[in-house]
Amino acid sequence: MKLIAPSILSADFTKLEDEIRAVESAGADWIHIDVMDGHFVPNITMGPFIVEAVNRITDLPLDVHLMIEHPERYIPEFADAGADLISVHVETCPHLNRVIDLIQCSECRAGAVLNPATSIDTIEWILEYIDFVLLMSVNPGFGGQSFIDNTLEKARQLKQMIQTKGLSTLIQIDGGVNETTIREISAAGVDVFVAGSAIFGSKDYHQTIKNLKEKM
Ligand code: DX5
Ligand code: ZN
Repeated sequence: MKLIAPSILSADFTKLEDEIRAVESAGADWIHIDVMDGHFVPNITMGPFIVEAVNRITDLPLDVHLMIEHPERYIPEFADAGADLISVHVETCPHLNRVIDLIQCSECRAGAVLNPATSIDTIEWILEYIDFVLLMSVNPGFGGQSFIDNTLEKARQLKQMIQTKGLSTLIQIDGGVNETTIREISAAGVDVFVAGSAIFGSKDYHQTIKNLKEKM
């Protein structure tokens, strides 16, 4: 199963409803929502009320990526707002098992996110409890950055770890995914591709998502 998750960070917020309907009819599988707090990352974006609004526009799964400190304080609110998947950075969670439990008890699928410099060893002993791993292939905070190449090797090693443990954990990648990079990323074992600027910066969302899907 290979999925495309457009990141609305790069959408035109003056017409968010049209943008979401457009990517949905163009073949998007999930809608990726980037939540930033200005502390963990140097940018501030959206809160639960945007998730609640997006939930009224689409039936696609809402994939909420929390780039915030103390994510446990906000998880119930994001779940109530309509999140289907919630991911938290391991760098923000000294008690990751507890936070993952909270996400799953809130009836959402749970993901652990690793910054580019964070080793996959940090999730070895939680892998069996989570639904997906999100590998950041840029330093989080902004759309439109270039893919960090050694994330490919990281994805291959993570895939190996998942297979060795006999698990079916999904690997998601976020940052610098476009028509040039997606083929190699897919070959490295990635299942879910977040793409912001590559989709919302293109003229024809349908053609772009079609091209991305053909190459993955
Ligand atoms: C970055 C965000 C990404 C971002 C990706 O911190 O987590 O989801 O929107 O943007 P692109 O696809 O433009 O690299
Ligand atoms: Zn993201």
